[in-house]
Amino acid sequence: MSKGLLKKLGLFVAIGTMAISIVGCGGNKAGNESALESIKQKGKLVVGTSADYPPYEFHKLVDGKDKIVGFDISMAKSFAEDLGVELEIDDMDFDGLLVALQAGKVDMVFAGMTPTDERKENADFSDIYYTAKHGFIVRKGEEQNIKSIDDLKDKKIGVQKGSIQEMLANEKLPDAKKKALGKVTDLVLDLKNNKVDAILVELPVAQFNCEKNSDIALTDVILEDEEGGAAIAMSKGSDDLKNEVNKTIKKLKDEGKIEKFVIEANEMVE
Ligand code: ARG
Repeated sequence: MSKGLLKKLGLFVAIGTMAISIVGCGGNKAGNESALESIKQKGKLVVGTSADYPPYEFHKLVDGKDKIVGFDISMAKSFAEDLGVELEIDDMDFDGLLVALQAGKVDMVFAGMTPTDERKENADFSDIYYTAKHGFIVRKGEEQNIKSIDDLKDKKIGVQKGSIQEMLANEKLPDAKKKALGKVTDLVLDLKNNKVDAILVELPVAQFNCEKNSDIALTDVILEDEEGGAAIAMSKGSDDLKNEVNKTIKKLKDEGKIEKFVIEANEMVE
């Protein structure tokens, strides 16, 4: 073989390797395999979540064992069953979820995630399966002094890092101090320890936490956002996966199962 040909061959191999590694970065799919095919081939659906958000997803001791439960998890289980694959849950901070998705560490994100325009640039989203307003939690007794959003403007507001509540707080309370943390469970501790004065989260999460902790309470200040709602995120271009998950969502909705999952999750407040 001539040197020239060898060089050319070498270049070919190099380009080929590059192409494979570029595809490799896009997710855990091999070659042209679709997101759905890759899950089926693995026999496993890896779901990313941030299990600090009851009743959506949270940790609970079941028979002495730490389990991740919640209505998002019930939905993920249903979807894995529909696909005929195993379910694996990967728990992390909320602001790391889309990064993990893009890196191919998880196949999908079930985390009460709202499909904002910014997020849609980096991920595909299923249909909305649940909508909720937003509420403020404060220390018990202080709810009586918070009758309008104005009563919060001099307070220190706790929000989850990277959440739409962080944006909402900046928009509605531009002058208030803010503290953004990775986990809502840590925000609740901060509230109890006087490190923040109020926490902004989705209303069902606020209600669950107040039910569970007698020393915190919900205020009457409720925020709505028309584009809100929870959807499942997956990597861009996952059309077949999106179609499948939308089928499961539709089926669960039609059968009244999502409401059932929400009730079951709320009953786990102990
Ligand atoms: N819906 C809000 C958002 O998309 C908050 C979701 C937080 N989810 C969680 N599992 N902590 O930004």
